[in-house]
Amino acid sequence: MLVLLSSACSKLTVFQQRVKMSHAYPFLTPEQKKELSDIAHKIVASGKGILAADESTGSIAKRFQGINVENTEENRRFYRQLLFTADDRVKACIGGAILFHETLYQKDDSGKVFSQLLREKDIVVGIKVDKGVVPLAGTNGETTTQGLDGLNERCAQYKKDGADFAKWRCVLKITPTTPSNLAIMENANVLARYASICQSHGIVPIVEPEILPDGDHDLKRCQYITEKVLAAVYKALSDHHIYLEGTLLKPNMVTAGHSCSHKYAPQEIAMATVTALRRTVPPAVPGITFLSGGQSEEEATLNLNAINQCPLHKPWALTFSFGRALQASALKAWSGKKENAKACQEEYIKRAMNNSQAALGKYVSTGEKGAAAGESLFVANHAY
Ligand SMILES: *[C@@H]1O[C@H](CO)[C@@H](O)[C@H](O)[C@H]1NC(C)=O
Repeated sequence: MLVLLSSACSKLTVFQQRVKMSHAYPFLTPEQKKELSDIAHKIVASGKGILAADESTGSIAKRFQGINVENTEENRRFYRQLLFTADDRVKACIGGAILFHETLYQKDDSGKVFSQLLREKDIVVGIKVDKGVVPLAGTNGETTTQGLDGLNERCAQYKKDGADFAKWRCVLKITPTTPSNLAIMENANVLARYASICQSHGIVPIVEPEILPDGDHDLKRCQYITEKVLAAVYKALSDHHIYLEGTLLKPNMVTAGHSCSHKYAPQEIAMATVTALRRTVPPAVPGITFLSGGQSEEEATLNLNAINQCPLHKPWALTFSFGRALQASALKAWSGKKENAKACQEEYIKRAMNNSQAALGKYVSTGEKGAAAGESLFVANHAY
C-alpha cells in the first residue's frame, strides 16, 4: 500500500513538473497577445474578408498574359493601385490585403506607399513571406514550402514597414497514394515554425495548408483528407506554443476533385466543409478565410454563402481570402487600358460586396454575370 501510494505521488510530481515546464518559458507577453488577437479580429470583422493580391511576379505574368498585358513593374503597380484605390464601398468588405514583397514598397501616383494608403483605408496590410514550394524527395511528387531562412529578420523589417499579418502557403495533393504521412507532418511543422516566428514579431500568421482540387476524388475523400491535414496542423501549432487567438486559418473548402464526375450542390460542400472544420479547428481561432482555389467567382461566392448558412454551430468567422475569385472580372475589364480603370474597379467592388454578403450568409445571386463570373479559374497543379 505504502509502495503504491509513493509511486502514485512520484507520478504526480512528474506530471506537475511537466505542467510547470510548459509555463516556465513564456513566449508572448499579455500585451503581445492582445496585439495579435486585435489584428486577427479586425481582419475578419463581421462582413469582412481578405483581398489576396500577393501574386508573385511570375504568377501575375500569367494573369496579365490572359489579357495581353506586358508584365512590367509599372503595369503591376498600376493594376494594384486600381484595386487599392477602389472607393469606400469596399471598406465594409475588405479587412486585409495580402501583398507581394515588391508591392509593399510601391507607391501610388501621388507618391504614397501602398502600405500607408491601405492603412488609411482601415485595411490591414499583409505580406506573403514563403518562398514557394520545393519537392519532397522520395515522395510521389509531393512538396514542402521553403522560406524559413532569414524569416526572423524579414518579419522584423516587414512589421516596421507596416505589415501586421503574413501568409505562408503549403500544398498537399490528393491521389490514391497521397498525401503521405511525411508530407502531412513536414508541412504542418513548417507552418507552425513560420507561425512562431511571425508571432514573436507581432505579425498574425495566416496558416495555409491548401489541399489542391486536382483529381477525380469525391467529396467524402476530400473531407477525410482535410480532417487529417488540419488535425496535424493544429497539433504542430500546439507543439510550437502558438497563440491561436492571434492566428487565422486559410484552408480549401471541402470540394470534390476537379475531374470528379459527380457535381455537388453548395449545401453539400458547405456541410462537408463545416463538419471537417468543427472536428479539427479549435474555437480559439478567430477566423477561417477560405482560398478560392480555381473556383469561378460565382461558385466561390455561392459556396461561401452556403457555408455561412450551414445549420451547424460555427464558433469562428467564416470568410474569404480570394485572389482569382475577386480579381478575374476586374482584370478582364481593365485589359491594360487606362480608360478602363473605372470599369475594373467597379467589377472588383461588385465581387467584394457579393463576398461580403456571402460572409454573412446573406448573398442573393441576381444571376447577373461579371466579365468572368462563371468562368472556371482552375489551373492544374497551381503554383503561385
Ligand atoms: C454582386 O453585387 C452587385 C452589387 O451589390 C450586384 O449589382 C450584382 O448583381 C451582384 N452579382 C450577382 C451575380 O448577383
